[in-house]
Amino acid sequence: MSTVRSDTRSGNQRGAERWSAALMNNFGVPPVELVSGHGAIVVDADGREYLDLLGGIAVNALGHAHPAVVQAVSTQVARLGHVSNFFSHPTVLDLAERLLGLAGAAGDGRVIFCNSGAEANEAAFKIARLTGRPRIIATHGGFHGRTMGALALTGQPAKQEPFAPMVPGVEFIPFGDAQALSSAVDDTVAAVFLEPIQGEAGVIPAPDGYLAHARAVTTAAGALLVLDEVQTGIGRTGTWFAHQRVGIRPDIITLAKGLGGGMPIGAAIGLGRAADLLQPGQHGSTFAGNPVCAAAALAVIDTIERERLLDHAATLGKHLSGAIEDLGHPLIDRVRGEGLLLGVVLQRPVSAVAASVARDAGFIVNAPTPDVIRLAPPLVLTTEQADSFVAALPTILETAAKDA
Ligand SMILES: Cc1ncc(COP(=O)(O)O)c(C=O)c1O
Repeated sequence: MSTVRSDTRSGNQRGAERWSAALMNNFGVPPVELVSGHGAIVVDADGREYLDLLGGIAVNALGHAHPAVVQAVSTQVARLGHVSNFFSHPTVLDLAERLLGLAGAAGDGRVIFCNSGAEANEAAFKIARLTGRPRIIATHGGFHGRTMGALALTGQPAKQEPFAPMVPGVEFIPFGDAQALSSAVDDTVAAVFLEPIQGEAGVIPAPDGYLAHARAVTTAAGALLVLDEVQTGIGRTGTWFAHQRVGIRPDIITLAKGLGGGMPIGAAIGLGRAADLLQPGQHGSTFAGNPVCAAAALAVIDTIERERLLDHAATLGKHLSGAIEDLGHPLIDRVRGEGLLLGVVLQRPVSAVAASVARDAGFIVNAPTPDVIRLAPPLVLTTEQADSFVAALPTILETAAKDA
């Protein structure tokens, strides 16, 4: 008589096996399968809870399953889910007007919607080409996405090389070097692309005065200043957009990630003359400006306002970075970043191991570079939740240093 053996694999193991069989191998096989979430907590396929300090990489601004997003998406999809760009839609108009207001561009700007950060930068790239000037300036270490145009703007050779040749015309300068900007930008430059804080390069803030200098130099040369706020925008750093802290006005702001609170939506906001360069037929996307995603984005913006999450992000970010530095731990060099986009810089290149030890301890973080742990939690993270991570961090780091 044959016996039927029960499946002894955990839910996470089953998920990993199915992943490696069915999905292309571009991310590696995730060790954990997440099945639900609430606030800053996510739950895996084995019922284990984690404190999500990464927020889907700066996406889940309101955490998981926030009632405002659930309600907005459910209501909109039950009414009208998709209309194409042949038709107007009130929710999409509301969102465009709202974004212009937040960017200080009401009456002097226009929005083009898309579905991701890479596409927002593709749109900005195409708008820049329409100036008729041949050169684009971007920065070493910068990250703007993985599509061919966005990749061409991404100053990380290892990501570009397998896909060469790149879209031509892009030149790279060191990030944060004002002199290099002055030397590179003249009247042959269409646009300068910058992140206010380089996120994927390890949460590296622009030095004081750098963005203002970039504004002055591009204005003098008649070039566009494109600020990629895909990671820093929508409240993450304590202001709607990170550049607002330094009081400059870019020509184009690119957005995605936190904008939809988990729904896929991106946008490029053109201010002044950059708003008028695209002409009918020059760009588009079937799903762009989808009413369901737009409804989610409006719910995100309303909730950030109603729950005063800009102030919360600024205050909690200071508290969190201060508390981590106050640990005085020998493996921690410093914490950099702004609001709730923080990089814990380590004395040793053990961040990847630390991220996996942290996960085993119930905390989701990631390692954008070998010596940086990135925190980009939901803006609804509580002080108690932040403190629970700080309390666990010394053991996480010591275990990582032993295991590395
Ligand atoms: C600054 C920045 N720009 C663009 C992107 C690309 O966004 P997406 O992955 O939505 O295409 C990212 C993603 O990490 C980013 O951090």
